[in-house]
Amino acid sequence: LAAEQRDGVDVYEISLRQFEQQILPEPHPATTVWGYGPTEGGVFHAPSLTIEAAVGRPVLVTWRNELVTVGGEPLPHLLPVDPTLHWANPPGGEDGRDEAPDFRGLTYVPSADPSEAESLPAGSYTRYWGPVPMVTHLHGAVGVGEHSDGYPEAWYLPAVELPDGYAAVGSWYEQFRGEAAAATGVDWEPGSAVCLYPNDSRPAALWFHDHTLGMTRLNVYAGPAGFYLLRDTPHEGITVAGSGEAAELPGPAPHLGDDPDATYLEIPLAIQDRSFNDDGSLFYPDARAFFDDTASGFIPDDEHVPPIWNPEFFGNVMIVNGRAWPFHTVEQRRYRFRVLNGCQSRFLILDFSPLPGVSVWQIGNEGGLLTAPVDITTHVKNRVLLGPAERADLIVDFTDVPVGDYPLNNLGPDAPFGGSRFKAADPSAAGRIMQFRVRPATSPDTSTPPAQLVLPPVPRVEGDPAIRRLALLEMMAPTLGVPVAAMLGVVDGDPAEEPSPARHVMWGDDVVVDPVAGTTEIWELYNATMDAHPVHLHEVTFEVVDRQPITVTEGMTPTVILTPGSYPRPPERWETGRKETVIAYPGEVTRLKARFEVPGRFVWHCHILEHEDNEMMLPFVIRPAD
Ligand code: C2O
Ligand code: CU
Repeated sequence: LAAEQRDGVDVYEISLRQFEQQILPEPHPATTVWGYGPTEGGVFHAPSLTIEAAVGRPVLVTWRNELVTVGGEPLPHLLPVDPTLHWANPPGGEDGRDEAPDFRGLTYVPSADPSEAESLPAGSYTRYWGPVPMVTHLHGAVGVGEHSDGYPEAWYLPAVELPDGYAAVGSWYEQFRGEAAAATGVDWEPGSAVCLYPNDSRPAALWFHDHTLGMTRLNVYAGPAGFYLLRDTPHEGITVAGSGEAAELPGPAPHLGDDPDATYLEIPLAIQDRSFNDDGSLFYPDARAFFDDTASGFIPDDEHVPPIWNPEFFGNVMIVNGRAWPFHTVEQRRYRFRVLNGCQSRFLILDFSPLPGVSVWQIGNEGGLLTAPVDITTHVKNRVLLGPAERADLIVDFTDVPVGDYPLNNLGPDAPFGGSRFKAADPSAAGRIMQFRVRPATSPDTSTPPAQLVLPPVPRVEGDPAIRRLALLEMMAPTLGVPVAAMLGVVDGDPAEEPSPARHVMWGDDVVVDPVAGTTEIWELYNATMDAHPVHLHEVTFEVVDRQPITVTEGMTPTVILTPGSYPRPPERWETGRKETVIAYPGEVTRLKARFEVPGRFVWHCHILEHEDNEMMLPFVIRPAD
């Protein structure tokens, strides 16, 4: 995307629109999707074109919700919106917005069209067909004011005329609009928000996506997401071992208007799983039993669980940069791939082992460069693990790979991750990601061999930390005895000393996580569930401190205790430096250390989008220091 420069600030006007995209190979039909693109002219794509930002140079974006027809009518959602969650809820009006009415005892009608929705029999309800709320979050942004963070309750509808009683904006929109106007001098027009990103942090691969309360999984599934590459000097402070000279990474990255036939060596790869109907439209379930009963996502019918709800989603088609199972032609040389796991629920395990002679190095994660390059080929058999929302900055060396066509596979299962069972993804479906067509090099490779890269020192998280004990929990359906939703909560007491109760906290409860600006905390995430959860904090990056086994008792309010005689284990080699998303495994406490600086209201959540939308997200408030 191209910016306009204004007083040392990069200014963008970005709209979110509906359009058609050839995701599946022809002759399959095109798919109706949503995506971001420049408001004036330009290219709309899902995921969107990349924003390139420079460290120390702020970016100001006007994000416009333009999900309307050419005639100005609001477009309905492409996917079944579940109104039974705590959600944005525009028809709930001023007071009921950001809440769900009580649907227990009512019958769900998987209605096919809006006309039926108006004449539903008493005692029934269906999906929401109204105008679609949106709010954009820059994932990985550090030190952003609360007004610019894309708070889930700061959503806004497109600027259309609304039926009586509809709320046009979420409950935090007006307050943040006032704060933003005070901070930036820019007022928000109807149907939009203006966000200021200071970019005062380490260079890293960030990404932006929708964050609307209770709808993020559906909004993001429909397409709105994109990379935001925050860059420093061309060398990012990397030097060559021995000589100390500036190192050279594979590049450049392609930019709009560049010669399409030039060789680009730095390539962002957004990997997402999706499913499709025969007519090419996106498929997302609106009824139970989507999973077969071998997946732990299976939930039988029960009055406490609305039948539209599914606790995880695993697509059977892999999409890379908006194309199903694409190929990319590479030369026998080094490439830099900026990889994002943009899946809904799926943990990815990229497997480069079908490429004989390949060498894979990881040099960065979400928070920027690691402390040292990791030889993925030697240490972990060419496999790269990425929880949802995690990123890997990879250098892949194809120099010794014989000319030929090879798949990049995924072993990350079609099911929740980290429990006792592991079954790799179906090799004929989500087990394949893309194909590399390796061809002879047309020019010499001048990039520095990854083994010789010396990465710049990573600033440590400073300060004497206070300990905060938090919990990842499961909500049991009372009559079923099976978990139906994952939740967050707090641990009372000290699990190093005694079994300590973990109690859940709901989105609508009082804020319980409230660090003071200018202080440092260690968050201990006690995972009392059966699955791994990628836990993401807004506003900060953190250090992964360690992980340690815990013993959990069963029940709605379990107790957790550090497993007697157990020891902490250090972070993985690819978890050094800074991160903002971390995998919390079942049966372990995961410890992270963060420093909080800018006062305001933000969120922390599981980045399994289905979990995030159903109570596995909580606000946290950074209180001003007095
Ligand atoms: Cu990628 Cu709170 O999100
Ligand atoms: Cu989760």
